[in-house]
Amino acid sequence: MILILDFGSQYTQVIARKIRESHVYCEIFPGNKKLDEIENLDTVEAIILSGGPNSVYEKDAPHPDEKVWNMNVPILGICYGMQLIAHHLGGKVQHSKQREYGLADIVIKSKSLLFAGLKNKMPVWMSHGDKLTKLPKNFKIVASSRNCPNAAIVNNNGTIYGVQFHPEVHHSPFGKQILDNFLFKVCKVSKDWTMKNYIKDEISRIKKQVGKSKVLCALSGGVDSSVAAIMMHKAIGKQLFSVYVDHGLQKLGETERVRKIFGKKFGKNLIVVDAKKLFLNKLKGIIDPEQKRKIIGHTFIEVFEKEAKKLKGIDFLLQGTIYPDVIESAKIGKAVTIKSHHNVGGLPEKMKMKLVEPLKSLFKDEVRELGRELKIPNEIIDRQPFPGPGLAIRTLGEITEEKLRIVKEADAIVDYEIRKAGLYEKIWQSFAIILPVKTVGVMGDQRTYEYVIVIRAVNSVDAMTADWVKLPYEILGKISSRIINEVKGANRVVYDISQKPPSTIEWE
Ligand code: XMP
Repeated sequence: MILILDFGSQYTQVIARKIRESHVYCEIFPGNKKLDEIENLDTVEAIILSGGPNSVYEKDAPHPDEKVWNMNVPILGICYGMQLIAHHLGGKVQHSKQREYGLADIVIKSKSLLFAGLKNKMPVWMSHGDKLTKLPKNFKIVASSRNCPNAAIVNNNGTIYGVQFHPEVHHSPFGKQILDNFLFKVCKVSKDWTMKNYIKDEISRIKKQVGKSKVLCALSGGVDSSVAAIMMHKAIGKQLFSVYVDHGLQKLGETERVRKIFGKKFGKNLIVVDAKKLFLNKLKGIIDPEQKRKIIGHTFIEVFEKEAKKLKGIDFLLQGTIYPDVIESAKIGKAVTIKSHHNVGGLPEKMKMKLVEPLKSLFKDEVRELGRELKIPNEIIDRQPFPGPGLAIRTLGEITEEKLRIVKEADAIVDYEIRKAGLYEKIWQSFAIILPVKTVGVMGDQRTYEYVIVIRAVNSVDAMTADWVKLPYEILGKISSRIINEVKGANRVVYDISQKPPSTIEWE
Protein backbone atom coordinates (compact mmCIF):
# COMPACT_ATOMS: atom_id res chain seq x y z
CA MET A 1 0.00 0.00 0.00
CA ILE A 2 1.13 3.53 -0.75
CA LEU A 3 0.22 5.84 2.10
CA ILE A 4 -0.88 9.31 1.03
CA LEU A 5 -0.89 11.88 3.79
CA ASP A 6 -3.27 14.68 2.91
CA PHE A 7 -2.36 18.20 3.95
CA GLY A 8 -5.41 19.77 2.37
CA SER A 9 -4.52 20.00 -1.30
CA GLN A 10 -7.39 20.03 -3.72
CA TYR A 11 -5.44 17.48 -5.77
CA THR A 12 -4.96 14.75 -3.16
CA GLN A 13 -7.64 12.51 -4.65
CA VAL A 14 -6.05 13.01 -8.06
CA ILE A 15 -2.76 11.63 -6.69
CA ALA A 16 -4.63 8.57 -5.46
CA ARG A 17 -6.41 8.07 -8.79
CA LYS A 18 -3.15 8.29 -10.73
CA ILE A 19 -1.48 5.73 -8.50
CA ARG A 20 -4.36 3.32 -8.79
CA GLU A 21 -4.46 3.77 -12.55
CA SER A 22 -0.94 2.37 -12.44
CA HIS A 23 -2.37 -0.69 -10.63
CA VAL A 24 -0.89 0.14 -7.26
CA TYR A 25 -3.08 0.33 -4.18
CA CYS A 26 -3.04 3.48 -2.07
CA GLU A 27 -5.02 5.06 0.73
CA ILE A 28 -5.46 8.66 1.86
CA PHE A 29 -5.28 9.77 5.49
CA PRO A 30 -5.23 13.19 7.13
CA GLY A 31 -1.69 14.56 7.11
CA ASN A 32 -1.35 14.63 10.87
CA LYS A 33 -2.77 11.15 11.48
CA LYS A 34 -0.86 9.12 14.07
CA LEU A 35 0.69 6.37 12.01
CA ASP A 36 0.07 3.74 14.67
CA GLU A 37 -3.65 4.26 14.21
CA ILE A 38 -3.44 3.14 10.60
CA GLU A 39 -4.48 -0.43 9.99
CA ASN A 40 -1.97 -2.58 8.08
CA LEU A 41 0.80 -0.04 8.60
CA ASP A 42 3.26 -2.86 8.01
CA THR A 43 2.11 -3.09 4.38
CA VAL A 44 3.07 0.53 3.60
CA GLU A 45 5.68 0.56 0.85
CA ALA A 46 6.00 4.31 0.35
CA ILE A 47 4.64 7.58 1.70
CA ILE A 48 3.46 10.55 -0.30
CA LEU A 49 3.06 13.90 1.43
CA SER A 50 0.48 15.94 -0.48
CA GLY A 51 0.36 19.64 -1.12
CA GLY A 52 -1.67 21.96 1.05
CA PRO A 53 -2.70 25.57 1.52
CA ASN A 54 -0.62 26.25 4.64
CA SER A 55 2.81 27.61 5.29
CA VAL A 56 4.99 25.29 7.42
CA TYR A 57 5.62 28.07 9.95
CA GLU A 58 1.96 28.90 10.57
CA LYS A 59 0.72 28.20 14.07
CA ASP A 60 -1.94 25.77 12.93
CA ALA A 61 -0.03 24.28 10.01
CA PRO A 62 -0.44 20.50 9.89
CA HIS A 63 2.68 18.38 10.35
CA PRO A 64 3.08 14.65 9.91
CA ASP A 65 3.69 12.21 12.73
CA GLU A 66 7.50 12.17 13.41
CA LYS A 67 7.40 8.43 12.77
CA VAL A 68 7.11 9.19 9.06
CA TRP A 69 10.85 9.87 8.89
CA ASN A 70 11.72 6.53 10.46
CA MET A 71 9.51 4.22 8.45
CA ASN A 72 12.35 3.15 6.18
CA VAL A 73 10.23 3.47 3.06
CA PRO A 74 10.70 5.97 0.23
CA ILE A 75 9.00 9.35 0.61
CA LEU A 76 7.79 11.76 -2.03
CA GLY A 77 6.78 15.27 -0.93
CA ILE A 78 4.69 17.33 -3.32
CA CYS A 79 4.63 21.13 -2.92
CA TYR A 80 3.75 21.69 0.76
CA GLY A 81 4.86 18.07 1.22
CA MET A 82 8.35 18.97 -0.02
CA GLN A 83 8.44 21.99 2.27
CA LEU A 84 7.60 19.70 5.19
CA ILE A 85 10.54 17.50 4.24
CA ALA A 86 12.87 20.49 4.18
CA HIS A 87 11.48 21.95 7.40
CA HIS A 88 11.73 18.71 9.36
CA LEU A 89 15.08 17.54 8.05
CA GLY A 90 17.05 20.74 8.59
CA GLY A 91 16.45 22.85 5.47
CA LYS A 92 14.81 26.23 5.25
CA VAL A 93 11.50 27.37 3.79
CA GLN A 94 10.92 31.02 3.11
CA HIS A 95 7.51 32.51 3.41
CA SER A 96 6.45 34.42 0.36
CA LYS A 97 3.32 36.42 -0.23
CA GLN A 98 3.76 36.11 -3.95
CA ARG A 99 2.49 32.93 -5.53
CA GLU A 100 3.99 31.19 -8.51
CA TYR A 101 1.01 29.83 -10.37
CA GLY A 102 0.87 28.21 -13.78
CA LEU A 103 3.15 26.41 -16.19
CA ALA A 104 6.92 26.59 -15.77
CA ASP A 105 9.76 24.79 -17.50
CA ILE A 106 12.06 22.76 -15.33
CA VAL A 107 15.54 21.69 -16.33
CA ILE A 108 17.20 18.54 -14.99
CA LYS A 109 20.29 19.35 -12.94
CA SER A 110 21.37 15.90 -11.82
CA LYS A 111 20.53 12.36 -12.76
CA SER A 112 17.83 10.66 -10.70
CA LEU A 113 15.41 7.76 -10.88
CA LEU A 114 12.49 10.18 -10.57
CA PHE A 115 13.12 11.65 -14.00
CA ALA A 116 14.44 8.47 -15.66
CA GLY A 117 13.58 8.31 -19.34
CA LEU A 118 12.44 11.94 -19.47
CA LYS A 119 13.87 14.79 -21.50
CA ASN A 120 16.22 17.35 -20.00
CA LYS A 121 13.59 20.08 -20.03
CA MET A 122 9.83 19.83 -19.48
CA PRO A 123 6.81 21.92 -18.52
CA VAL A 124 5.24 21.37 -15.10
CA TRP A 125 2.39 22.95 -13.16
CA MET A 126 3.43 25.21 -10.30
CA SER A 127 1.12 26.45 -7.59
CA HIS A 128 2.93 27.62 -4.49
CA GLY A 129 3.72 30.63 -2.35
CA ASP A 130 6.53 29.52 -0.03
CA LYS A 131 9.87 28.46 -1.40
CA LEU A 132 12.67 26.20 -0.30
CA THR A 133 15.75 28.38 0.26
CA LYS A 134 18.15 25.94 1.93
CA LEU A 135 18.35 22.23 1.30
CA PRO A 136 18.44 19.84 4.23
CA LYS A 137 21.82 18.19 4.82
CA ASN A 138 22.58 15.33 2.44
CA PHE A 139 20.13 16.58 -0.16
CA LYS A 140 20.85 17.80 -3.67
CA ILE A 141 18.97 19.57 -6.43
CA VAL A 142 17.52 17.38 -9.16
CA ALA A 143 15.68 19.97 -11.24
CA SER A 144 15.27 23.75 -11.30
CA SER A 145 13.01 26.28 -12.94
CA ARG A 146 13.73 29.94 -13.47
CA ASN A 147 11.81 31.08 -10.42
CA CYS A 148 12.43 28.03 -8.36
CA PRO A 149 15.99 26.66 -8.15
CA ASN A 150 14.83 23.82 -5.88
CA ALA A 151 12.04 22.54 -8.11
CA ALA A 152 12.96 18.92 -7.33
CA ILE A 153 15.31 17.55 -4.69
CA VAL A 154 16.54 14.17 -3.47
CA ASN A 155 18.56 12.89 -0.52
CA ASN A 156 21.88 11.15 -1.08
CA ASN A 157 20.37 7.68 -0.56
CA GLY A 158 17.79 8.35 -3.25
CA THR A 159 14.97 7.50 -0.83
CA ILE A 160 13.41 10.91 -0.16
CA TYR A 161 12.24 13.08 -3.03
CA GLY A 162 10.57 16.45 -3.01
CA VAL A 163 8.97 18.30 -5.92
CA GLN A 164 7.73 21.86 -5.76
CA PHE A 165 5.39 21.34 -8.72
CA HIS A 166 2.30 19.12 -9.06
CA PRO A 167 3.04 15.96 -11.08
CA GLU A 168 -0.50 14.66 -10.45
CA VAL A 169 -2.40 17.30 -12.45
CA HIS A 170 -2.89 16.94 -16.18
CA HIS A 171 -1.22 20.32 -16.81
CA SER A 172 2.06 18.54 -15.99
CA PRO A 173 2.23 16.46 -19.17
CA PHE A 174 5.03 14.19 -17.89
CA GLY A 175 3.67 14.06 -14.36
CA LYS A 176 2.28 10.54 -14.69
CA GLN A 177 5.67 9.25 -15.79
CA ILE A 178 7.28 11.00 -12.80
CA LEU A 179 4.81 9.35 -10.42
CA ASP A 180 5.34 5.99 -12.13
CA ASN A 181 9.10 6.42 -11.81
CA PHE A 182 8.63 6.99 -8.11
CA LEU A 183 6.46 3.87 -7.78
CA PHE A 184 8.35 1.46 -9.97
CA LYS A 185 11.94 2.72 -10.09
CA VAL A 186 12.35 4.27 -6.63
CA CYS A 187 9.97 2.12 -4.57
CA LYS A 188 10.05 -0.94 -6.88
CA VAL A 189 6.45 -1.83 -6.04
CA SER A 190 4.60 -4.36 -8.16
CA LYS A 191 1.50 -3.74 -10.26
CA ASP A 192 -0.88 -6.00 -8.39
CA TRP A 193 -3.91 -3.76 -7.87
CA THR A 194 -6.24 -5.16 -10.52
CA MET A 195 -9.98 -5.70 -10.50
CA LYS A 196 -9.48 -9.47 -10.80
CA ASN A 197 -7.34 -9.45 -7.65
CA TYR A 198 -9.73 -7.07 -5.96
CA ILE A 199 -12.68 -9.39 -6.58
CA LYS A 200 -10.76 -12.39 -5.29
CA ASP A 201 -9.57 -10.62 -2.12
CA GLU A 202 -12.85 -8.89 -1.45
CA ILE A 203 -14.87 -12.09 -1.80
CA SER A 204 -12.76 -13.85 0.75
CA ARG A 205 -12.94 -10.81 3.04
CA ILE A 206 -16.74 -10.70 2.73
CA LYS A 207 -17.04 -14.42 3.42
CA LYS A 208 -14.94 -14.03 6.54
CA GLN A 209 -16.90 -11.00 7.73
CA VAL A 210 -20.36 -12.40 7.08
CA GLY A 211 -19.93 -16.11 7.74
CA LYS A 212 -23.28 -17.86 7.49
CA SER A 213 -25.32 -14.72 8.29
CA LYS A 214 -27.96 -13.24 6.04
CA VAL A 215 -27.35 -9.88 4.37
CA LEU A 216 -29.98 -7.34 3.36
CA CYS A 217 -29.55 -4.99 0.44
CA ALA A 218 -31.50 -1.91 -0.64
CA LEU A 219 -31.28 -2.21 -4.39
CA SER A 220 -32.02 1.00 -6.28
CA GLY A 221 -30.84 0.02 -9.76
CA GLY A 222 -28.16 2.74 -9.62
CA VAL A 223 -24.53 1.97 -10.36
CA ASP A 224 -23.24 1.61 -6.80
CA SER A 225 -26.03 -0.46 -5.30
CA SER A 226 -26.14 -2.71 -8.39
CA VAL A 227 -22.42 -3.41 -8.40
CA ALA A 228 -22.41 -3.92 -4.62
CA ALA A 229 -25.30 -6.38 -4.86
CA ILE A 230 -23.79 -8.44 -7.69
CA MET A 231 -20.43 -8.53 -5.92
CA MET A 232 -22.13 -9.67 -2.73
CA HIS A 233 -24.15 -12.29 -4.58
CA LYS A 234 -20.94 -13.65 -6.06
CA ALA A 235 -19.52 -13.94 -2.55
CA ILE A 236 -22.46 -15.33 -0.56
CA GLY A 237 -25.17 -16.29 -3.10
CA LYS A 238 -28.48 -17.09 -1.42
CA GLN A 239 -27.52 -15.46 1.86
CA LEU A 240 -28.19 -12.11 0.13
CA PHE A 241 -31.71 -10.63 0.11
CA SER A 242 -32.28 -7.60 -2.10
CA VAL A 243 -35.23 -5.31 -1.59
CA TYR A 244 -36.20 -2.97 -4.40
CA VAL A 245 -38.76 -0.38 -3.32
CA ASP A 246 -40.90 0.65 -6.28
CA HIS A 247 -41.92 4.14 -5.17
CA GLY A 248 -43.05 5.17 -8.61
CA LEU A 249 -40.52 8.00 -8.79
CA GLN A 250 -38.01 6.15 -10.98
CA LYS A 251 -37.41 6.47 -14.69
CA LEU A 252 -39.85 4.87 -17.10
CA GLY A 253 -39.42 1.08 -17.18
CA GLU A 254 -37.00 1.01 -14.24
CA THR A 255 -38.77 -1.68 -12.24
CA GLU A 256 -38.95 -3.98 -15.27
CA ARG A 257 -35.25 -3.37 -15.92
CA VAL A 258 -34.35 -4.29 -12.36
CA ARG A 259 -36.44 -7.47 -12.59
CA LYS A 260 -34.83 -8.39 -15.88
CA ILE A 261 -31.26 -7.80 -14.74
CA PHE A 262 -31.38 -9.12 -11.19
CA GLY A 263 -34.42 -11.40 -11.17
CA LYS A 264 -32.78 -14.32 -12.92
CA LYS A 265 -29.68 -14.28 -10.75
CA PHE A 266 -31.30 -13.56 -7.40
CA GLY A 267 -34.51 -15.56 -7.88
CA LYS A 268 -36.82 -15.34 -4.87
CA ASN A 269 -34.21 -13.32 -3.03
CA LEU A 270 -35.12 -10.29 -5.11
CA ILE A 271 -38.06 -8.69 -3.37
CA VAL A 272 -39.87 -6.01 -5.34
CA VAL A 273 -42.17 -3.97 -3.12
CA ASP A 274 -44.96 -2.06 -4.85
CA ALA A 275 -45.20 1.10 -2.74
CA LYS A 276 -46.34 3.48 -5.48
CA LYS A 277 -49.68 4.27 -3.85
CA LEU A 278 -48.15 4.78 -0.41
CA PHE A 279 -45.60 7.30 -1.70
CA LEU A 280 -48.19 9.16 -3.76
CA ASN A 281 -50.50 9.39 -0.75
CA LYS A 282 -47.78 10.68 1.52
CA LEU A 283 -46.72 13.25 -1.05
CA LYS A 284 -50.23 14.46 -1.70
CA GLY A 285 -50.50 18.24 -1.46
CA ILE A 286 -46.78 18.68 -0.71
CA ILE A 287 -45.01 21.34 -2.74
CA ASP A 288 -42.04 22.26 -0.58
CA PRO A 289 -38.88 20.58 -1.98
CA GLU A 290 -37.29 19.89 1.39
CA GLN A 291 -40.48 18.41 2.73
CA LYS A 292 -40.71 16.16 -0.33
CA ARG A 293 -37.18 14.89 0.26
CA LYS A 294 -37.87 14.23 3.94
CA ILE A 295 -41.11 12.40 3.28
CA ILE A 296 -39.47 10.23 0.64
CA GLY A 297 -36.54 9.43 2.96
CA HIS A 298 -38.78 8.47 5.87
CA THR A 299 -41.25 6.51 3.78
CA PHE A 300 -38.43 4.61 2.14
CA ILE A 301 -37.07 3.56 5.53
CA GLU A 302 -40.55 2.63 6.73
CA VAL A 303 -41.20 0.35 3.74
CA PHE A 304 -37.74 -1.13 3.82
CA GLU A 305 -37.89 -1.88 7.55
CA LYS A 306 -41.22 -3.61 7.18
CA GLU A 307 -39.76 -5.92 4.52
CA ALA A 308 -36.66 -6.55 6.62
CA LYS A 309 -38.82 -7.62 9.57
CA LYS A 310 -40.60 -10.15 7.39
CA LEU A 311 -37.30 -11.70 6.40
CA LYS A 312 -36.17 -12.36 9.99
CA GLY A 313 -32.68 -13.14 11.23
CA ILE A 314 -30.78 -10.62 9.12
CA ASP A 315 -27.53 -9.42 10.68
CA PHE A 316 -25.93 -7.33 8.00
CA LEU A 317 -26.91 -4.43 5.79
CA LEU A 318 -25.13 -4.06 2.47
CA GLN A 319 -24.07 -0.51 1.65
CA GLY A 320 -22.73 0.83 -1.61
CA THR A 321 -20.47 3.35 0.13
CA ILE A 322 -17.56 4.31 -2.11
CA TYR A 323 -14.10 5.61 -1.26
CA PRO A 324 -14.68 9.36 -1.70
CA ASP A 325 -17.47 9.03 0.91
CA VAL A 326 -15.13 7.61 3.53
CA ILE A 327 -11.91 9.52 3.02
CA GLU A 328 -11.42 11.27 6.28
CA SER A 329 -11.81 14.99 5.90
CA ALA A 330 -8.64 16.73 4.87
CA LYS A 331 -9.65 19.62 7.06
CA ILE A 332 -7.28 18.52 9.70
CA GLY A 333 -8.49 18.82 13.26
CA LYS A 334 -12.14 18.84 12.20
CA ALA A 335 -14.42 15.94 12.89
CA VAL A 336 -14.41 13.08 10.44
CA THR A 337 -17.28 13.44 8.04
CA ILE A 338 -18.77 10.38 6.47
CA LYS A 339 -21.68 10.86 4.12
CA SER A 340 -24.48 8.37 4.36
CA HIS A 341 -25.40 6.80 1.07
CA HIS A 342 -27.92 9.06 -0.66
CA ASN A 343 -30.55 6.51 -1.46
CA VAL A 344 -30.63 4.77 1.88
CA GLY A 345 -29.73 7.76 4.04
CA GLY A 346 -30.45 7.10 7.67
CA LEU A 347 -30.98 3.35 7.26
CA PRO A 348 -27.93 2.00 9.10
CA GLU A 349 -28.49 4.12 12.23
CA LYS A 350 -32.13 3.18 12.28
CA MET A 351 -31.77 -0.54 11.68
CA LYS A 352 -28.85 -1.21 14.01
CA MET A 353 -27.34 -3.78 11.69
CA LYS A 354 -23.70 -4.42 11.04
CA LEU A 355 -22.54 -3.00 7.75
CA VAL A 356 -20.85 -4.75 4.89
CA GLU A 357 -19.38 -2.38 2.32
CA PRO A 358 -17.71 -4.08 -0.63
CA LEU A 359 -17.00 -0.84 -2.54
CA LYS A 360 -15.57 1.09 0.37
CA SER A 361 -12.08 1.34 -1.07
CA LEU A 362 -13.06 2.12 -4.67
CA PHE A 363 -13.35 5.36 -6.60
CA LYS A 364 -16.35 5.78 -8.88
CA ASP A 365 -14.43 4.82 -12.04
CA GLU A 366 -13.21 1.71 -10.27
CA VAL A 367 -16.78 0.78 -9.30
CA ARG A 368 -17.62 0.92 -13.01
CA GLU A 369 -14.56 -1.15 -13.87
CA LEU A 370 -15.58 -3.69 -11.24
CA GLY A 371 -19.10 -3.75 -12.69
CA ARG A 372 -17.72 -4.52 -16.13
CA GLU A 373 -15.52 -7.26 -14.73
CA LEU A 374 -18.65 -8.72 -13.06
CA LYS A 375 -20.39 -8.60 -16.47
CA ILE A 376 -23.09 -6.16 -15.37
CA PRO A 377 -24.77 -4.69 -18.49
CA ASN A 378 -23.58 -1.29 -19.72
CA GLU A 379 -27.08 0.13 -19.37
CA ILE A 380 -26.43 0.08 -15.62
CA ILE A 381 -22.70 0.73 -15.50
CA ASP A 382 -22.67 3.80 -17.73
CA ARG A 383 -25.70 5.49 -16.27
CA GLN A 384 -25.78 9.17 -15.62
CA PRO A 385 -26.28 10.08 -11.95
CA PHE A 386 -29.89 9.93 -10.80
CA PRO A 387 -30.98 11.53 -7.54
CA GLY A 388 -32.28 9.43 -4.64
CA PRO A 389 -35.64 11.26 -4.45
CA GLY A 390 -35.97 10.58 -8.17
CA LEU A 391 -38.54 12.31 -10.31
CA ALA A 392 -40.15 13.85 -7.24
CA ILE A 393 -37.62 16.69 -7.42
CA ARG A 394 -38.20 17.03 -11.16
CA THR A 395 -41.96 17.24 -10.75
CA LEU A 396 -42.37 20.77 -9.54
CA GLY A 397 -45.29 21.65 -7.35
CA GLU A 398 -47.61 18.89 -6.21
CA ILE A 399 -46.79 15.39 -7.36
CA THR A 400 -49.74 13.80 -9.11
CA GLU A 401 -50.05 10.58 -11.05
CA GLU A 402 -50.63 12.54 -14.25
CA LYS A 403 -47.60 14.82 -13.86
CA LEU A 404 -45.42 11.82 -13.03
CA ARG A 405 -46.56 10.03 -16.17
CA ILE A 406 -45.84 13.11 -18.29
CA VAL A 407 -42.36 13.69 -16.87
CA LYS A 408 -41.49 9.99 -17.21
CA GLU A 409 -42.53 9.86 -20.85
CA ALA A 410 -40.75 13.11 -21.64
CA ASP A 411 -37.63 11.91 -19.82
CA ALA A 412 -37.65 8.66 -21.80
CA ILE A 413 -37.66 10.69 -25.03
CA VAL A 414 -34.75 12.84 -23.85
CA ASP A 415 -32.87 9.69 -22.89
CA TYR A 416 -33.52 7.99 -26.21
CA GLU A 417 -32.59 10.95 -28.40
CA ILE A 418 -29.47 11.80 -26.43
CA ARG A 419 -28.30 8.19 -26.64
CA LYS A 420 -29.16 7.99 -30.33
CA ALA A 421 -27.02 11.07 -30.97
CA GLY A 422 -24.11 9.33 -29.21
CA LEU A 423 -24.07 11.98 -26.48
CA TYR A 424 -25.27 10.04 -23.43
CA GLU A 425 -21.85 9.08 -22.10
CA LYS A 426 -20.41 12.48 -22.92
CA ILE A 427 -22.97 14.38 -20.86
CA TRP A 428 -22.97 14.42 -17.06
CA GLN A 429 -26.77 14.51 -16.79
CA SER A 430 -29.60 15.06 -19.25
CA PHE A 431 -33.24 14.88 -18.25
CA ALA A 432 -36.74 16.39 -18.27
CA ILE A 433 -38.54 18.42 -15.64
CA ILE A 434 -42.25 19.19 -15.48
CA LEU A 435 -43.36 22.65 -14.34
CA PRO A 436 -46.49 23.28 -12.32
CA VAL A 437 -47.82 25.70 -14.93
CA LYS A 438 -49.92 25.19 -18.01
CA THR A 439 -49.70 27.23 -21.19
CA VAL A 440 -51.98 27.71 -24.14
CA GLY A 441 -51.26 25.99 -27.41
CA VAL A 442 -52.99 24.92 -30.56
CA MET A 443 -53.14 21.44 -31.98
CA GLY A 444 -55.02 20.94 -35.25
CA ASP A 445 -57.96 23.28 -34.82
CA GLN A 446 -58.11 22.78 -31.10
CA ARG A 447 -56.97 25.04 -28.32
CA THR A 448 -54.79 23.19 -25.78
CA TYR A 449 -53.94 24.16 -22.24
CA GLU A 450 -51.20 21.86 -21.01
CA TYR A 451 -47.99 21.47 -19.02
CA VAL A 452 -44.52 22.85 -19.83
CA ILE A 453 -41.52 20.51 -19.99
CA VAL A 454 -38.01 21.77 -19.31
CA ILE A 455 -34.99 20.01 -20.75
CA ARG A 456 -31.81 20.20 -18.69
CA ALA A 457 -28.44 18.91 -19.90
CA VAL A 458 -25.27 19.74 -17.98
CA ASN A 459 -21.64 18.90 -17.98
CA SER A 460 -19.70 18.63 -14.78
CA VAL A 461 -16.82 16.77 -13.20
CA ASP A 462 -18.02 16.50 -9.64
CA ALA A 463 -21.54 18.03 -9.58
CA MET A 464 -20.20 20.95 -7.53
CA THR A 465 -20.13 23.18 -10.57
CA ALA A 466 -21.85 22.57 -13.89
CA ASP A 467 -22.40 24.20 -17.23
CA TRP A 468 -25.33 23.73 -19.58
CA VAL A 469 -24.56 21.69 -22.67
CA LYS A 470 -24.68 23.44 -26.01
CA LEU A 471 -26.85 20.73 -27.55
CA PRO A 472 -27.17 20.93 -31.33
CA TYR A 473 -30.40 22.67 -32.41
CA GLU A 474 -31.46 19.61 -34.43
CA ILE A 475 -31.40 17.42 -31.35
CA LEU A 476 -33.23 19.98 -29.24
CA GLY A 477 -35.75 20.34 -32.06
CA LYS A 478 -36.25 16.59 -32.34
CA ILE A 479 -36.73 16.20 -28.59
CA SER A 480 -39.17 19.09 -28.49
CA SER A 481 -41.34 17.95 -31.36
CA ARG A 482 -41.40 14.37 -30.12
CA ILE A 483 -42.47 15.40 -26.61
CA ILE A 484 -45.19 17.72 -27.88
CA ASN A 485 -46.48 15.15 -30.33
CA GLU A 486 -46.14 12.00 -28.28
CA VAL A 487 -46.64 12.98 -24.65
CA LYS A 488 -50.25 13.61 -23.86
CA GLY A 489 -50.57 16.59 -21.53
CA ALA A 490 -47.48 18.60 -22.58
CA ASN A 491 -47.66 21.35 -25.20
CA ARG A 492 -44.44 23.33 -24.72
CA VAL A 493 -40.74 22.54 -24.28
CA VAL A 494 -38.04 24.93 -23.05
CA TYR A 495 -34.28 24.52 -22.56
CA ASP A 496 -32.57 25.45 -19.32
CA ILE A 497 -29.42 27.50 -19.98
CA SER A 498 -28.31 28.19 -16.42
CA GLN A 499 -24.97 27.38 -14.87
CA LYS A 500 -24.29 25.98 -11.44
CA PRO A 501 -23.67 28.09 -9.43
CA PRO A 502 -25.89 29.97 -9.04
CA SER A 503 -28.49 27.50 -10.32
CA THR A 504 -28.35 23.89 -9.13
CA ILE A 505 -28.49 20.90 -11.45
CA GLU A 506 -31.85 19.68 -10.17
CA TRP A 507 -34.72 22.15 -10.01
CA GLU A 508 -35.67 21.26 -6.45
P1 XMP B 1 -27.73 19.81 -7.38
O1 XMP B 1 -29.17 19.84 -7.77
O2 XMP B 1 -27.51 20.04 -5.93
O3 XMP B 1 -27.27 18.30 -7.64
O4 XMP B 1 -26.87 20.67 -8.24
C1 XMP B 1 -25.95 17.86 -7.61
C2 XMP B 1 -25.94 16.39 -7.96
O5 XMP B 1 -26.54 15.61 -6.94
C3 XMP B 1 -27.69 14.92 -7.43
N1 XMP B 1 -28.69 15.04 -6.38
C4 XMP B 1 -28.99 14.03 -5.54
N2 XMP B 1 -28.56 12.77 -5.50
N3 XMP B 1 -29.96 12.36 -3.65
C5 XMP B 1 -29.08 11.93 -4.56
O6 XMP B 1 -28.73 10.75 -4.55
C6 XMP B 1 -30.43 13.62 -3.62
O7 XMP B 1 -31.24 13.98 -2.77
C7 XMP B 1 -29.92 14.50 -4.64
N4 XMP B 1 -30.16 15.78 -4.94
C8 XMP B 1 -29.38 16.10 -6.01
C9 XMP B 1 -28.06 15.63 -8.71
O8 XMP B 1 -28.75 14.76 -9.60
C10 XMP B 1 -26.71 16.05 -9.22
O9 XMP B 1 -26.03 15.00 -9.87
